[in-house]
Amino acid sequence: MVGQQALTELAKRRGFFFGANEAYGGTAGFYTFGPEGAALKRNVESAWRERFTLRLGNEEIEAPTVMPEPVFEASGHLDGFDDMLIECAECGESHRADHLIEDAVADIEDAEALGVDRVEELIREHDLACPTCGAALSGEPVEDFNLMFETSIGPGSGQPGYLRPETAQGIFVEFPRLKEYARGQLPFGVTQIGPAYRNEISPRRGIIRVREFTQAELEQFIDPEEDEPPLEDVADVEVTLYPASEQNADDGDYIQTTIGEAIDEEIIGSPWVAYFLGVAQGWYERVGVDMDRFRFRQHLAGERAHYAADCWDAESEVGGNWIEIAGFAYRGDYDLRKHGEHSEDRFTVFKRYDEPKTVERATVNPDMSALGPEFGGAAGDVADALQELAESDPDAFDSNEVTVDVDGESYTIDTDVANFSVEEQTENGEHITPHVVEPSFGVGRTVYTLLDHAYSEDTVDDETRTYLSLAPEIAPTDVAVFPLVGDDDLVTTADDVADELRAAGLSVSYDDSGSIGRRYRRQDEIGTPFCVTVDHEGLEGDSEPTVTLRERDSASQLRISVADLAAELEAVLAGDGTFADLQDRYERVDTDVTTA
Ligand code: GAP
Repeated sequence: MVGQQALTELAKRRGFFFGANEAYGGTAGFYTFGPEGAALKRNVESAWRERFTLRLGNEEIEAPTVMPEPVFEASGHLDGFDDMLIECAECGESHRADHLIEDAVADIEDAEALGVDRVEELIREHDLACPTCGAALSGEPVEDFNLMFETSIGPGSGQPGYLRPETAQGIFVEFPRLKEYARGQLPFGVTQIGPAYRNEISPRRGIIRVREFTQAELEQFIDPEEDEPPLEDVADVEVTLYPASEQNADDGDYIQTTIGEAIDEEIIGSPWVAYFLGVAQGWYERVGVDMDRFRFRQHLAGERAHYAADCWDAESEVGGNWIEIAGFAYRGDYDLRKHGEHSEDRFTVFKRYDEPKTVERATVNPDMSALGPEFGGAAGDVADALQELAESDPDAFDSNEVTVDVDGESYTIDTDVANFSVEEQTENGEHITPHVVEPSFGVGRTVYTLLDHAYSEDTVDDETRTYLSLAPEIAPTDVAVFPLVGDDDLVTTADDVADELRAAGLSVSYDDSGSIGRRYRRQDEIGTPFCVTVDHEGLEGDSEPTVTLRERDSASQLRISVADLAAELEAVLAGDGTFADLQDRYERVDTDVTTA
């Protein structure tokens, strides 16, 4: 297992990621992905897009990252997207109060669920000190701190806006248009990969908790009464589950089961959530997560976000700790209902019945010549309130008088004036608010997990070697090409080989600096699956030129003709063959040229 420090050092040395703005002292919570990291991250995003957008038949959008305040009033983020803040009076450092409790008190795993007052008490009871300067925190107030970055849209005082804290809101607010593209038919899914921003109180652990990060989210819109996921596709997928009931039990443990059994035994309540856990399990395995260090953990009741009816997290173990790398939430109709209530638009779909239905509709036809003189400017609102009452409580019109509330005022009307009646109407369908199921992936945390799980050490030529055993699909570079020495013939051939591999669509790195051993080590450390070396032996005589091909994890080599190289590598990288197959067909090279 690699420690966080060793991994962070490798990430910095080899250009995966490093703290941003270091020339200006750095900014906590912001990281730059260097050339290797950016390529790795792009590959993770492409693999996600292939699985969660293309193969599931979904559509991808790209919405703005700045959104106006009313969006977040509606979504609940303005009121409810808080973390617990405590500031040290001595050094001024800010800390997550709930994390301090969790770190200090063995049996508390979710201090946020306890509420601000209890967390203040616990800080006092356990006499907690500031992790930065050691001063006592007892007696310092704990506050709810909103995590959104505020900005102002336009010059002057402008319009208040916020950097989106989740890409999801960019999908929800566009629902009225997106449903048109889906021709009003449920179920349909919309994805988005892009940045999200949270003004984390104490960003920590490298890229694991940062203030700007990339999410890959899928919003699956469903009719909860009719739509079912294709469970047969994932029923046999084996998963490690850690349900809330097991977390709460004294002797609680993981449940090793299949998605099908987890539904049958009601361990996972929503078939849609279960379906996405099954798809995600396969995807994480494909991109190289070590499945022995992976689990799905259900949120405890107090842990769920304000919008979630149920939620399971995908968690990976890195550096000895479990971290959340994705969330799978059943958001119900919360988001679309709220945006429907707060905006002018319609966040519903029209659900057509198989057969038209004849229904009885309670209605009123108030006599405005009576309401007008009696209630003046409020008459129209009173008429609307009467109609609402007729629909929600028709029995209210059984007596001689009926009372409605408008803006907190009560208005009493003779029932005759309301002209209440129940009419038969033929209806072809109804407007329903779809429910949302949301797989939400953190791309940075996935990248971190892949690096951690790929980190390996062994001994080659009596030297300890560090290498990243990344899945070829994800590795930043497919193949590196080296001329053994700076000889003209070797350099020219190596250039040609690199060009040919690039033309075949592979991502190629060319390196002619330092000893060949050092060059192999560099590529091993960035996880390049294959290295090609052009040596004198391969250019001798009149026969076709050959090169050596070295596989990263085994460090073993074979000799292959330049003419075959691109096609064979393409096949192996695409999973249509293995290096071991090539070893059966090509001459093995026993001498490890790393010593050259
Ligand atoms: N739309 C749902 C949503 O945003 P979330 O659990 O808050 O749910 C989803 O975030 C994922 O985004 C997390 O599982 C995590 O991988 C990633 N994430 C959240 N906050 C993060 C942070 N401060 N730094 C890095 N990644 C973060």
